[in-house]
Parts: sequence; structure tokens; C-alpha cells
Amino acid sequence: MINRNDQCWCDSGKKWKNCHFPNKGTAKSSSPEDLKSQYFRKYHIILKTEEEIRGIRRACRLTSEILDKTCAMAKEGVTTLELNDYAHKLHIEAGAIPAPLNYGYPPFSKSICTSINEVVCHGIPDNTKLRNGDIVNIDLSCILDGYYGDCSRMVVIGSTTPERQLVVDVSYECLMKSIEILKPGIPVSAIGDAIESHATARGCSVVYQFVGHGIGIEFHEGPQVAHNRNSNHILLVPGMTFTIEPMINAGVPEAIVSKKDQWTARTEDGRASAQWEHTILITDKGHEILTTWKR
Ligand code: MF3
Ligand code: CO
Repeated sequence: MINRNDQCWCDSGKKWKNCHFPNKGTAKSSSPEDLKSQYFRKYHIILKTEEEIRGIRRACRLTSEILDKTCAMAKEGVTTLELNDYAHKLHIEAGAIPAPLNYGYPPFSKSICTSINEVVCHGIPDNTKLRNGDIVNIDLSCILDGYYGDCSRMVVIGSTTPERQLVVDVSYECLMKSIEILKPGIPVSAIGDAIESHATARGCSVVYQFVGHGIGIEFHEGPQVAHNRNSNHILLVPGMTFTIEPMINAGVPEAIVSKKDQWTARTEDGRASAQWEHTILITDKGHEILTTWKR
């Protein structure tokens, strides 16, 4: 939490209580509008209005609900395509659009990502049946009334190996430890610090080739949120919405994208990888987790 006597997050050099403290009016040197244009001009970061936040919150809640239902269906013998078709149907019933469908180049051909065992991210649902001992990441992104939400969870099918269980647990711990510290005034790099120090303490490595991202009005906005140690000095400010989605490996951090489908990223050494993802809002006093799934 930010304290009354801390430096304000807006760069004014004043104490928070004498600057952007809620109900205190705003400092003349940097009104919220100034900051909004500054962040967009310098970093392509869109600071959201109250109305936009309400829309993004709804999109994120729906994304979490569809994710929970889809995860509950992930059992031995079920194919990832069946998970995809079920999630797709839930989007349509809720009046939402699955953001991955036709996204990027070559266009992503399915509505969700399903990444099993050594797959780091962006696995494409197909006729593969989930087997006992698999770990699978299910990644859901919805567009609802023009606003975006994005989150993912791991499901362990039956009982798995110690190595797979380790990356499932460590990636979750990394996500939650990096969320805990979020408040206005800290640099984006603090996220990578929190994740990498925990992952390495637990004997795992952090994928650096894929990052979290600003989100809300677009699927992928600024800033890029690296999960490894980095020197991104952009300060968090209220109204930022972004994802944190650490991919944690048991072996080497390197990922290789399939030449065949140009999406599926696998660990270079074939060892296990896991990922969990939330969409976060930075508030005046700290943060709010907008995607409501709970482990
Ligand atoms: N959470 C993932 C991301 O932001 C979702 C990817 S969807 C895809 O990268 F279509 F890009 F694969
Ligand atoms: Co994402």
C-alpha cells in the first residue's frame, strides 16, 4: 500500500498526501489529464477512465467465469479441441468474442490457448486427449462490449511428476508475489524482480521471450511487462490495466516456436513449463485483481 507520507507517484516530488491524495484535489504541476497524455505519448500506455474501468472489470469477470468452467471440464480423455469448443460456446452465449480467434499472423485458428507439459504458451487446441499426469495451461481472452479481459490457469490431470508439480506451484507463487507489491510509484521492473528472485530461489527459470502487457481497450497495449529482471523504469500510476503472466520452466528458460504452426512455443530442452495469468488495475492506493479466478 502507498502511505500518506510517501512520494507521490506522479513525479511532482511532493508527498502523496499533498498531491494526488484522494479528495485533496490535484497538484497544479501534473493534473491527471497531463499524466494521461504524457503516458500515451511517451509509452503508448492508455490510462483508463472510470467508465472504461467499469467495462474492463465486466470483461475480466466474464473471462474468469468462462475460464473456471473450462478448467472444470479438463479431465483425462477430454481433447483440447473439446475444451475450445465449450469455451467458444460460452463466449457466444454471453455476447462476447474470443480475442485469440483470427488474432495475429498467421491468424490464430482457435478461441483459446491450451499448452500442455513442455509447451510454454500459445498451444493450439486439437484432437490431443489429456492424459493422467499432464499439466495444462488454459488461456482465455474475451472481448465484451469492446473491452478486453485476459487470464489463464493450470490444471493438473490426475497425479503428476514432482518436476511438473514444481513449475505449476512456482509459477502461481511468482504471479501472486509480483501482484502483492503493486501500487502507484513502483517501476514496472519491480514485477520482474519479484518473479525472477522467487523462481530462481525455487530452482526454476523465467521465460524472457514472452511478456505480460497493457490491455483493456486493445488486446495488447503498452507497457510490455517482462517477467525476468529488467530495467523498465516506467512508474505504475492509477488507471493502468495490464496482465502479469509468468512462464516458469524446470530447465532452461529458452522457448522455441514451432516452424509448423508458427504459434506453439516449447521449452528448448523439452522440460516442463507452467503459467498463470491475471489482469490487474492500478488504483490510487494499490491494486485490484480484475480477473476473479481463485486457485
Ligand atoms: N494471454 C496470451 C497473450 O497475451 C493470450 C494469447 S492469445 C493468442 O499472449 F491468440 F495470441 F495466442
Ligand atoms: Co495475456
